[in-house]
Amino acid sequence: MQVQPLTVSKLCKTKSLIAVNNLFPGPVVYADEEDTVVVNVTNNCQYNITIHWHGIRQLRSGWADGPVYITQCPLQTGDTYQYKFKIQRQSGTLWWHAHDTWLRATVHGAIVVFPKTGVPYPFHYPREEHIILIGEWWNANVEDVESQSLLTGGAPQLSDAYTINGHPGPLYNCSSQGKLFLFVFPNEHYLLRIVNVALNQELFFTVANHNLTVVEIDGDFTKPYTTSTIFLTPGQSTTALFITNQPTAKYYMGASPYSSAAGVPFPTTPTLAIVEYQGSSNSTPPVMPTFPATNDTGLVANFSASLRSLADTTHPEPVPQTVDRSLLFTIGLGTKPCGENRVCQGIAGTKLTASMNNISFVLPDIALLQAYYNNISGVFTRDFPDTPPIVFNYTGTPPNNTTPQRGTRLLVIPYNANVQMVFQDTSILGIENHPIHVHGYSFYIVGQGTGNFNSSQTSTFNLFDPPRRNTVGVPVGGWAAIRFKADNPGVWYIHCHLEVHTMWGLTMAFIVLNGARANETLPPPPPDLPRC
Ligand code: C2O
Repeated sequence: MQVQPLTVSKLCKTKSLIAVNNLFPGPVVYADEEDTVVVNVTNNCQYNITIHWHGIRQLRSGWADGPVYITQCPLQTGDTYQYKFKIQRQSGTLWWHAHDTWLRATVHGAIVVFPKTGVPYPFHYPREEHIILIGEWWNANVEDVESQSLLTGGAPQLSDAYTINGHPGPLYNCSSQGKLFLFVFPNEHYLLRIVNVALNQELFFTVANHNLTVVEIDGDFTKPYTTSTIFLTPGQSTTALFITNQPTAKYYMGASPYSSAAGVPFPTTPTLAIVEYQGSSNSTPPVMPTFPATNDTGLVANFSASLRSLADTTHPEPVPQTVDRSLLFTIGLGTKPCGENRVCQGIAGTKLTASMNNISFVLPDIALLQAYYNNISGVFTRDFPDTPPIVFNYTGTPPNNTTPQRGTRLLVIPYNANVQMVFQDTSILGIENHPIHVHGYSFYIVGQGTGNFNSSQTSTFNLFDPPRRNTVGVPVGGWAAIRFKADNPGVWYIHCHLEVHTMWGLTMAFIVLNGARANETLPPPPPDLPRC
C-alpha cells in the first residue's frame, strides 16, 4: 500500500486528501480464513501513519495490530513497514483503516475474508457480492478539523455529507455524476458487504421496498435475521443477503444518520445509490426508501437485540459460562478545567473531555506493547481500576466531583481468564450511545439494557447464542455486557469508535499476560517494526 495525497472533487469543491494506491476508498483486501496476509505499507504523505486491520483478531500477531503508540510507533514520511498476520477463527466482512489521528476519514478500505477452502457459506449462495462502505465526507481537511476541536475544546466541525463508497449521491450538490449503480437480475440472491467507515456518525442502511437478511456481523456468522433497516456504528460491519424479489424498476438504497446526542446539528440528508433491475425503464425515477427518524433509538435497540450468533454451548469457542474477572467501566463525556493558552469553547470556560472509569487516557510517546515486551519502565502504570472510583446514579444527575484524571493506566488480565466487561454510559455531560471497540478479540454481547447496570441482571444474560462482535453500541443511557476468554497475549486498545471521543480520551488499554508455553506467548517483534 502506498499512502499518498490524491486530488478528489466532491460537493462542487476540489481538494487533496490522503489515500492509498490513488484510490478513495482504498483497495479491498481479499483473503481466505487461514491465509497469512502480508501488506507492505509505504508512507509517502506528510503525516505519520499506521494501519489497523479492524476486527482481525491478530492471534499471536499483536505487532501487526496497528493503533499508534499502543502496538507500534508510526511510520514517518518515507518509512515502509510490512504488516504480516494470519487470519484465524473468523470470516466475513471487516475493514482496514489508518489508526493515527483522523486520517482514517479517507485512509480505509474493506477486508473480505472467505471461509477456508471446502467450507461453504452457511446461507444461500449469492449470484454476486458487492462492497458498500457507508461514511462521511468533509469539505475541509480532516486534520484541520481535528486540530480545531483539540485546540479549542469545542465540538468539532461536522461532516458535510454522508457517502456510499465515497459518493454523496444525488441529494447533494454536484454529486449525481458519482452515483453508484448496482445492476441486478430479478429473483436472485446478492450479498452486500456493508461497513460503517464514518468517523463520528452512526448510520442506518436501507433499500427501498426490499428486506435485507443479516448473515454475519463483524466477522462472525449469525442466525439469519431479516429486516428492512440495518444499523451500524462506526467500526461495525455486516454481510447481508439481498433478494431481488420486487417488480422490475430502479430503487434507491441509502444511509441516513442516527444520533442519540441532543442538539448536535449534524447533516440529515441521506446518501443514495441506485439498484437497477435488468430491463427497468429509464423514464421512471428510482423508488425512494423511507428512512428512520434520526433519533429512532427503539429501532437501534430492537436491531441489536435481534442478532444471534451461530454459537451455542458446544461451539469451538464457547460463550464463557463463568467469569474470572468482572469489570465495570463507566464511559462518557465530561469537562475539565481549560489549560492555559487555549481558547475554550466548552461549557463555562471548561474543555470537553471523555473518560473510562474517570480516567482520560493519555497516549504515550513510545508504543505500549514495546514498553511492555521490553520491560521499559515509566511509560505506563498497571493500576486501571476494575470498577468506577465514584459510584453514583450513572444515568441520573451526576455528582460534582466527576472531573476525570489524565493518565496512561493499564489493566492487567491473566492469560486465559474469562473476562466480563460491562460498559456503563454516564450522564455527566449528557447521555449518548458510544460504540466501544476492543482490539485483539471478538467478544460475545451477553446483555444490554437501559439505566444503571446491576449485578442481578447477570441472570438475564444470553449465554447460549449471543451475538459476537468487535464493536458494541452501548445503548444511550444504558449499559452493555461482553464476555471473552483472554487467550491472546499482548497489549490491546479499547476505545469509543467515534473519533472525536477517542481524541478526548474515551479509551483505555489492557495487557493480557503471556501464557506458560511457547505457543501461548507473543513472538518477538518483526525487525522492521517502526521505532520511536
Ligand atoms: Cu477501527 Cu482502534 O479501531
